[in-house]
Amino acid sequence: MRRTLIFGTYITALTITLFVLGSCVSDPDSSGLEYMPDMYRAPSIEVYVDNGEIRGKRFPKYKTALSALTPPNNSIPYYGKGDSMLVKLMLPYARKANILFRESHGLYGFNFSMFDEYALAINDKNPFLLTNKNSEEMFLKGKELYTAMCQHCHGEKGDGMGPMVMSGAYLGVPAYAERSALSDGQIFYSIYYGKGMMGAHNSLVTKKEIWTLVHYVRQFQNPDYGKFDKNGNPKSLVKMDSTVTKTK
Ligand code: HEC
Repeated sequence: MRRTLIFGTYITALTITLFVLGSCVSDPDSSGLEYMPDMYRAPSIEVYVDNGEIRGKRFPKYKTALSALTPPNNSIPYYGKGDSMLVKLMLPYARKANILFRESHGLYGFNFSMFDEYALAINDKNPFLLTNKNSEEMFLKGKELYTAMCQHCHGEKGDGMGPMVMSGAYLGVPAYAERSALSDGQIFYSIYYGKGMMGAHNSLVTKKEIWTLVHYVRQFQNPDYGKFDKNGNPKSLVKMDSTVTKTK
């Protein structure tokens, strides 16, 4: 009887030891054998999970990929080649809003300047040059943005006769043709921070989209803007601020 008890204890101890040791694996980074993996890790791809594992299988290419799909608020996306124009555009806009814009244009949480940065923006150039290769696509995108965000005030033809103005609800929208003297940088600044009765659009459009809109506004001021002859030379002889170039 006593021997059976001792034997039984040995067997139980051995079973437990084997069971515990059974979960050991040689990989020091592994958590060992998991009996119910779904309880440790969700089978779906989750943000901030970068072990590259989906449903128990390892995918090395996901291991270093950005799995953080929802970055923290106010973080600046910054990816791509270090010198690319697009990467530069992801950094904050260098021109600050005038302090008066805080109240008048609802620009809270911005850095403000005491200087007239609208005047300084005169020298800013559109980084997206218009060429015979890209102008069609640029205007197509411009039209899409313009129709969604500007047309109701500025009108389909850019004459300041949008439905908001025609209904009598809104006044003071200029025809773009009256403002041909504006530089690209100023148009950008006005779209970004707003001007007079026009609100700020920086939370609605990216900087690339604003530069696209700058091109779109230009063709209301000069019908030949962004048009090219069959040799690829720009049709417009009037020099506008945006550089129109020929590319082979
Ligand atoms: C709510 C109506 C409204 C909307 C929407 C609107 N604008 Fe304006 N916009 C105005 C008014 C009013 C002015 C005249 C501002 C002034 O000079 O006092 C103006 C002025 C401008 C100017 C001249 C700026 C300058 O520096 O003189 C440009 C360029 C312009 N808008 C482009 C746009 C574009 C592009 C959009 C769409 C992203 C847009 N606007 C959306 C009402 C609007």
